[in-house]
Amino acid sequence: MNGSMQVASQPELSQRQHQILKLLQAGKVNKEVAQELGIGLGTVKQHLVAIFKKLNVSNRAMAVSQSMEIFQGQESRGAALQMADFLECRPCVVLSIALPQEAGHAAVKLMYGSLAAMASAHDAVFLARNGNAGDVILGIQRVTEYDLAVALQTARAVYDDLLATDVQIAQKLRGCMTAGVAFASMKRFGGWTGEVIASAAIASARELLNEVAPGGFMFDSTALDMVELFGVGGTQDIAPTMLLQELKNLHWTGSRRAYHLVGRDEELARLYAALTDAAKGNGKLILVEGEMGMGKSRLCDAIAKLCLKHEGKVSFCRSLPPVLGNGLYDTVKGAACSAEQVAAWLRDQPACFPELVVVDDFHLLAKEQQSLLSAAGAEAIGNGKLVIFSGRRGMHENTGYPNGAGISETISLRRLSAQAIQVLVRNALGKGAIKGRAAKVQRMTSAAAGVPLFAVELARHHQTEQLALPLRVAINARLDSLRLDRNLLREVAKNTVGANLEEVAVALAEDVGALRTQMERALAAGVLSCSAEGWLSFTHPLLRRAIENFEME
Ligand SMILES: Nc1ncnc2c1ncn2[C@@H]1O[C@H](COP(=O)(O)OP(=O)(O)O)[C@@H](O)[C@H]1O
Ligand SMILES: [Mg+2]
Repeated sequence: MNGSMQVASQPELSQRQHQILKLLQAGKVNKEVAQELGIGLGTVKQHLVAIFKKLNVSNRAMAVSQSMEIFQGQESRGAALQMADFLECRPCVVLSIALPQEAGHAAVKLMYGSLAAMASAHDAVFLARNGNAGDVILGIQRVTEYDLAVALQTARAVYDDLLATDVQIAQKLRGCMTAGVAFASMKRFGGWTGEVIASAAIASARELLNEVAPGGFMFDSTALDMVELFGVGGTQDIAPTMLLQELKNLHWTGSRRAYHLVGRDEELARLYAALTDAAKGNGKLILVEGEMGMGKSRLCDAIAKLCLKHEGKVSFCRSLPPVLGNGLYDTVKGAACSAEQVAAWLRDQPACFPELVVVDDFHLLAKEQQSLLSAAGAEAIGNGKLVIFSGRRGMHENTGYPNGAGISETISLRRLSAQAIQVLVRNALGKGAIKGRAAKVQRMTSAAAGVPLFAVELARHHQTEQLALPLRVAINARLDSLRLDRNLLREVAKNTVGANLEEVAVALAEDVGALRTQMERALAAGVLSCSAEGWLSFTHPLLRRAIENFEME
């Protein structure tokens, strides 16, 4: 959660995908894979498409070579460590859908087929239920910040599929979405073992579904709370009760609520200087880098406002992750757009000076899209535009520029000062009466430890001492993608003052050497830090609290 997490995340493969890759490694052709696993040829092909997508490769030779590396990594990680499973408390999103009783076999089959396909593509768990109903649970295998958007997309897909075949039945479909926690048996390096799963969120989804009228869709308050953090909106406001046909108006926007900008004077001044240059027709390309929640989007927003104030033109788009189709979202128009369109904006002659083009969350784009936009960005500079690509750290390695050439500046967003965070906490708390306000502000300021997103989220949930669900999702998403040793992290989390590796090894009854490798990975990932005396602690206090929350409550 600080600026130094750089370990590349490894794709999470399902058990089936793992089996298929092993067979590919053994040189089997699709037909043999199908025979061996007792599945259809078409299914094998579908799995291959999903595998290529996950590994970000375009053919089987590449998939085989990539998977060799991954498996080797996994095997050496597991060496000398006990791989016992444990129960973990995980944030999850549940989508519940039901067809009317009179629905025919074909419609039910279609619905189950769509739900199962979606669950398999997104590592979600699918449960078929009596009464033509089904649940999809996201976040068990791994949590991502897009789970909510994926669930929405799924509901829409099921509805669209049905509309195309049986309009009357489709109009009686009902759905709902809840968010909560689930207990699941997890592997030491993450991923569901496929055994235990229990969740109050599933029960509450089923209950809520009973209240939904035919053709309707409902969100529980926790799901809506997550919407607030992760940004779903578009041409229609999200409401607790909607119509299924309205879901198509909801987009994943990634926009969070804007608070008065604090503590980024220097960064804003640098951007403003570039804007002044652009007003004279001198273009620049600036990278804004930082981890999730450090305020990249907020800063880009601030410079966009300044550009408009100077009668300039602004294009502002946000990249979408692969699970949502890898396009972009035009925040000015409130509509989807493609990388080609954005490249065209960059290449056009400027309509006026200054002209600003922002591509936010650039790191989410596919390599080809990044190269396309980088090349167009170079032309835009020549045309006198100010271009900002904003994203996670290290993205310039992917921008397609040899050695970052063409990039005029990089602005790295570090943690905010305690003063700035305190102001932000106060602003986010608002003016209403709050018991013990001053003490709360202090506690939240120190818990946020310089990360603006945490400050805002703690303030939004000031009534509870617990870590609120949206925040847990944000932290878990990061942790899950790192595939670190959870036993090690849990052991370190037990000690508020820190722990040393030898003690941890004794507590876990494990070999120090093998644990050291895991410790080094956690250090490289920026999750743990180690003092000169060898004391391990978390780089951010909320990481520790999130890990404590893994335990059953
Ligand atoms: N410097 C800041 N001043 C005020 N609010 C901020 C600042 N940085 C971030 N925020 C707020 O914190 C939240 C997260 O910021 P955001 O820009 O979405 O982070 P990022 O894009 O880096 O993930 C938003 O609600 C944003 O308004
Ligand atoms: Mg952002």
